[in-house]
Amino acid sequence: MQTSWIPFIPESASTVSEKVDALYFYLCGVTAFFTLLISGVLIFFVIKYRRRTPFEIPRPIAGSHKLETVWSVIPFIIAMSMFAWGAQIYFQNSRPPKNANEVYVVGKQWMWKIQHSTGQREINELHVPAGRKIKLIMTSEDTIHDFFIPAFRIKADVLPGKYTTQWFEATKPGTYHLFCAEYCGMNHSGMIGSVIVMQPTDFDNWLSGNSSQQSPAVAGQQLFQSLGCVSCHGANGEGGRGPALAGLFGRKVFLTNNQTLTADEAYVRESIENPAAKVVSGFSPIMPTFQGQVTPEQLIQIMSFIKSLQISGAPSPATTAPAKAETPAAKAATPPNRQ
Ligand code: CUA
Repeated sequence: MQTSWIPFIPESASTVSEKVDALYFYLCGVTAFFTLLISGVLIFFVIKYRRRTPFEIPRPIAGSHKLETVWSVIPFIIAMSMFAWGAQIYFQNSRPPKNANEVYVVGKQWMWKIQHSTGQREINELHVPAGRKIKLIMTSEDTIHDFFIPAFRIKADVLPGKYTTQWFEATKPGTYHLFCAEYCGMNHSGMIGSVIVMQPTDFDNWLSGNSSQQSPAVAGQQLFQSLGCVSCHGANGEGGRGPALAGLFGRKVFLTNNQTLTADEAYVRESIENPAAKVVSGFSPIMPTFQGQVTPEQLIQIMSFIKSLQISGAPSPATTAPAKAETPAAKAATPPNRQ
């Protein structure tokens, strides 16, 4: 659908944007049709049934079941068509594909901090390849923000103490606006940036052109050592006091309260900040809380380290862009970014 002739419509540059636009125009079309129909009928009746003499008494009108059924059933069908169509796009948008490349986003007053899974950091800029699926894993350091890329028709709140995700596949190279869409304080309107969509080969060059940076998984491994996690959580159960972490991510976990859940970002975060909340079956609630000791960015690093711990031989669904083969020992210890 060519929409550039409509004023104020942002460019359409992702695989969902055309679908969102089609639904939007359907809603506008239905609204315009009924606005015209109702006001037209209203004006017609006002003229047709106007008072003609000062003491005219109107004819009494009995109800019509046929008429009432028609004006209930037709709007019901129209409303349900909006619901079904909207739900279909919503489900598609809210379920990131498994093979998407992961990019971490941290919002803070008043900037967007972005890190790719290979370690590249960006501020208020997001470089992505065209034609590949990108999943954003987002959190906030302070208040509620909202990550909004109008040209891709995607938008999601970014919350402190919680991970939200959204995904997209950009369709054409170019530079697009990135906005914070939730009032977050004085410089909210300045919390803007650009999304730079590149040809996949250009993107790969860009990504490898900056290889001195440490990947979040490697930084997470260092934190895992320095915070002493390793003394209880050996990758394969060494230590014995905490559950093994290899292959944990995405797996089913059995808890002491007989609940079962899938280990996801929210569960891992909670287990670090509030370990007593969900204790794995067979273990005691002896882990101290790390709330306040790790920044949201460090949490992301630990999370990406845990995701990278796959059981050898098993496929690794969680890590799509594997960290470069670099050992933490071979690298100068970079202090975690605390800006
Ligand atoms: Cu961040 Cu508005």
